[in-house]
Amino acid sequence: MIAPSILSADFARLAEAADSVSRADWLHVDVMDAHFVPNLTIGLPVVKSLHAATDIPLDCHLMIDDPDRWAPPYAEAGAANVTFHIEAAHDPVATARAIRAAGALAGLSVKPGTEIEPYLDVLREFDTLLVMTVEPGFGGQEFMAEVLPKVRLAREHVRSGHLRLFVEVDGGIGEDTIEAAAAAGADVFVAGSAVFGADDPGCAVESLRSTARGSMAV
Ligand code: DX5
Ligand code: ZN
Repeated sequence: MIAPSILSADFARLAEAADSVSRADWLHVDVMDAHFVPNLTIGLPVVKSLHAATDIPLDCHLMIDDPDRWAPPYAEAGAANVTFHIEAAHDPVATARAIRAAGALAGLSVKPGTEIEPYLDVLREFDTLLVMTVEPGFGGQEFMAEVLPKVRLAREHVRSGHLRLFVEVDGGIGEDTIEAAAAAGADVFVAGSAVFGADDPGCAVESLRSTARGSMAV
């Protein structure tokens, strides 16, 4: 699946940005609070409006403190998938259950320096594992290939544990990096600048999808 990140779109024209990638699988929405990351973006009211303005399922990536309190309302607002960071969560299992109870998929995200071994057991409570391939906070950064062993480990764990779990990569994904991520076992690809920085965002989505398909390890 390809999930264009609206972080690289024109924030005054989000509905048009969604229309321009109408064949995307998910629309990735980066929620930042200027505490968990040094950047401030958008929150619940914008997610509600966007949900009313597009049919593309919303993939909300919460880079915020205290997701235990703030994540479930994104599910209630209509997000299809709500991902929060393990580094910020107090009770990830309870939060995942609250997100699922509100009707969304639940996602767990890890920063590049966070290992996933301690959390392999709780992944059963989640639908998505988002492996950051840049430090969270900004679009347009360089892909960190050193994170790929973590993607491989996640994929092996999904295989051996017979889990149903999307393995999503986020940060620096483009035509030059998506094959390596797909080969390592990712099956959801977030792309911000590679999509909304392109002349034709819709074409960029199709092109990324076909490049990834050739290398999928899944
Ligand atoms: C970064 C965000 C990403 C960002 C990716 O903190 O989580 O979703 O939009 O942007 P690119 O694809 O430009 O690296
Ligand atoms: Zn993101």
